[in-house]
Amino acid sequence: MFLQFLQLWMMLCFATVSCAARQDPFAMRLSCGARQNVQTRPTNTHWREDFGYTGGIVSNATRPSYITPPLNTLRYFPLSEGPQNCYIIDKVPKGHYSIRIFFGLVRQSRGTLIEPLFDISIEGTQIYSLKSGWTHQADQVFAEALVFLTDDSVSICFHSTGHGDPAILSIEILQIDDKAYYFAPPWSQGLILRTIKRLSCGFGQSKFDVDYAGDPWGGDRFWQRIKTFGEDSESGQPRSVETRIKHASHPPNFYPETLYQSALVSTNNQPDLTYTLEVDPNRNYSVWLHFAEIDYSAGQRIFDIEINGDLAFKHVDIVELSGDVYTALVLNTTVAVNGRSLTIKLKPREGNLAIINAIEIFEVIMAESKTISEEVSALQALKKALRLPPRFGWNGDPCVPPQHPWSGVDCQLNKSRGSWIIDGLGLDNQGLKGFLPDDISRLLNLQILNLSRNNIHGAIPSSLGTINSLQVLDLSYNFFNGSIPESLGQLSSLQRLNLNSNLLSDRVPATLGGRLLYRASFNFTDNAGLCGIPGLPTCGSHLSAGGKIGIGLGASFTIFLLTTCSVCWWKRRKNILRSQQIAGRAAPYAKARTHFSRDIQMTRHHNNFGKTSTAAENGPILLS
Ligand SMILES: *[C@@H]1O[C@H](CO)[C@@H](O)[C@H](O)[C@H]1NC(C)=O
Ligand SMILES: *[C@@H]1O[C@H](CO)[C@@H](O)[C@H](O)[C@H]1NC(C)=O
Ligand SMILES: *[C@@H]1O[C@H](CO)[C@@H](O)[C@H](O)[C@H]1NC(C)=O
Ligand SMILES: *[C@@H]1O[C@H](CO)[C@@H](O)[C@H](O)[C@H]1NC(C)=O
Ligand SMILES: *[C@@H]1O[C@H](CO)[C@@H](O)[C@H](O)[C@H]1NC(C)=O
Ligand SMILES: *[C@@H]1O[C@H](CO)[C@@H](O)[C@H](O)[C@H]1NC(C)=O
Ligand SMILES: *[C@@H]1O[C@H](CO)[C@@H](O)[C@H](O)[C@H]1NC(C)=O
Repeated sequence: MFLQFLQLWMMLCFATVSCAARQDPFAMRLSCGARQNVQTRPTNTHWREDFGYTGGIVSNATRPSYITPPLNTLRYFPLSEGPQNCYIIDKVPKGHYSIRIFFGLVRQSRGTLIEPLFDISIEGTQIYSLKSGWTHQADQVFAEALVFLTDDSVSICFHSTGHGDPAILSIEILQIDDKAYYFAPPWSQGLILRTIKRLSCGFGQSKFDVDYAGDPWGGDRFWQRIKTFGEDSESGQPRSVETRIKHASHPPNFYPETLYQSALVSTNNQPDLTYTLEVDPNRNYSVWLHFAEIDYSAGQRIFDIEINGDLAFKHVDIVELSGDVYTALVLNTTVAVNGRSLTIKLKPREGNLAIINAIEIFEVIMAESKTISEEVSALQALKKALRLPPRFGWNGDPCVPPQHPWSGVDCQLNKSRGSWIIDGLGLDNQGLKGFLPDDISRLLNLQILNLSRNNIHGAIPSSLGTINSLQVLDLSYNFFNGSIPESLGQLSSLQRLNLNSNLLSDRVPATLGGRLLYRASFNFTDNAGLCGIPGLPTCGSHLSAGGKIGIGLGASFTIFLLTTCSVCWWKRRKNILRSQQIAGRAAPYAKARTHFSRDIQMTRHHNNFGKTSTAAENGPILLS
């Protein structure tokens, strides 16, 4: 009895677990510029408003292609908003995602539509540069990439390239299987696949997975219909069936069954099937080929598959490989392409014909390393404190994509760490008005900091002294006030320190003064009251005016005394020498001596009277 109960309980558990595993994938769709959530026909797709994710300007949507989602608004980013603008979307669970962005056109003041060209990056990796003429090709009105998200958030950035304002219609973040589009190593979380082409061969319409009633885990791919590979009907005949296809909607890729119900079949006149695509050179491409034997009347078929002339698959027999007719077969391979075209050729063996149902081509992109997060947050604090205007576009990651670093920020890749570090900051001559916060010291790898010729006020943060790598510190021509922090003396790598033309006061720290002896160069001139090193006034102290005068007088007197003493001493030495040489005889020049010097001598003589025997002995000779 108890055993039976346990058995039942275990079965229930198992059912629950398998149900949980089949839950819906995470999906988030943003309608850019929308002020409320939107539902679109015919699939009742749910789009969220995009409030609070980014800046930019909202405008009425333009629909460059029939496949563009039927949304009413778009968001665009004029250069005044900065060269890069990002959507930072939080609360996206870790996982593998298909991210798709539809572009829009911006209407100019005169009503003409501009086709903007810009770059897109996801998580700091540049995935795409729009190509001129994209509006005229249905499947180029969006960019799509398969990306691993590892930190519960995703950043998607648009980088201006000086060809119009980036304009975005929608962003879709659709979870797919962790192993989706897995190929052999080096496939890993560090790779991004950018969709270049998805062709569904044969009869029918271009469609999204959702139109095919595809599994949501497939990522709602867009399949462009292609009826023939060439201009003439000789390059393939379309076929289609309604027969059920086995093994279609399977993990990890969940291809819709319909994909395999149509195909392109070669003809006896031209048994080869050849598809050519123009691509960017010197990249790696992942090619996925889909087959199902839906035209068995032609008899057995065996063919080779060449990609750019290299044999990729030999002796392909669809029925043998898939196990049956009307059964899906997916072959994938990755190729390096040096030239500008990628050609897939199906070459049947003698007397056979070739068949193909669908083709997918991806660009394989290595995901970029990111910038150390501590340094990113330091720059964000700096952006706020220095009140950087939006035109700086300090959004996303400061160093990546390397094609579009933040303006004024110099970066370096630390290969052993696998992350980018910030080694230079040049915000000179930018009209900045804020203050320099302590957070600056979190830029631990900074070598050069130039904030010259701004209107920065307040104190020089003493934390600057902890940036050991600092070689150049230029804060000249600002309104820094207060004293120079002692800590700057600890900067052992410092070669250049410009603090001239500020409102600094007080003593230059002795540690810095000492450095003047070394080769470092300094400029402290033109400040409110710096003192204490050669070239600057001597330092007073924090006393009342009377006290200062007193001290000043005291100092003058001391100097006077010191001078007097040294002159006396010098004179006396000379006289001793002379008296030893020309004993008793007055030298002609000795007569020309001023009364002043005589007075000094007398004074001194008087002071020392009876104390110093040498003075007593020599004095009369001098005075005669
Ligand atoms: C957007 O379209 C609506 C009508 O659909 C119109 O009233 C509005 O002025 C348009 N806005 C802009 C910025 O063109
Ligand atoms: C892609 O092909 C490799 C063999 O080259 C295979 O190991 C892998 O399972 C294939 N991926 C999928 C998802 O079928
Ligand atoms: C292409 O892949 C090979 C082998 O994985 C790799 O060594 C090479 O760097 C890749 N090329 C590009 C441009 O990514
Ligand atoms: C890279 O990072 C490692 C570990 O943090 C550090 O030891 C090394 O000095 C760094 N290299 C450079 C060139 O900054
Ligand atoms: C800092 O920038 C200014 C230009 O604004 C330049 O004249 C100066 O030489 C730079 N300082 C250093 C140390 O390079
Ligand atoms: C420096 O200037 C700020 C205003 O910018 C002022 O509040 C502060 O008291 C000044 N500090 C010194 C030491 O003069
Ligand atoms: C030092 O600063 C002053 C005033 O800001 C400037 O006139 C002078 O040329 C600077 N000297 C050097 C050596 O750069």
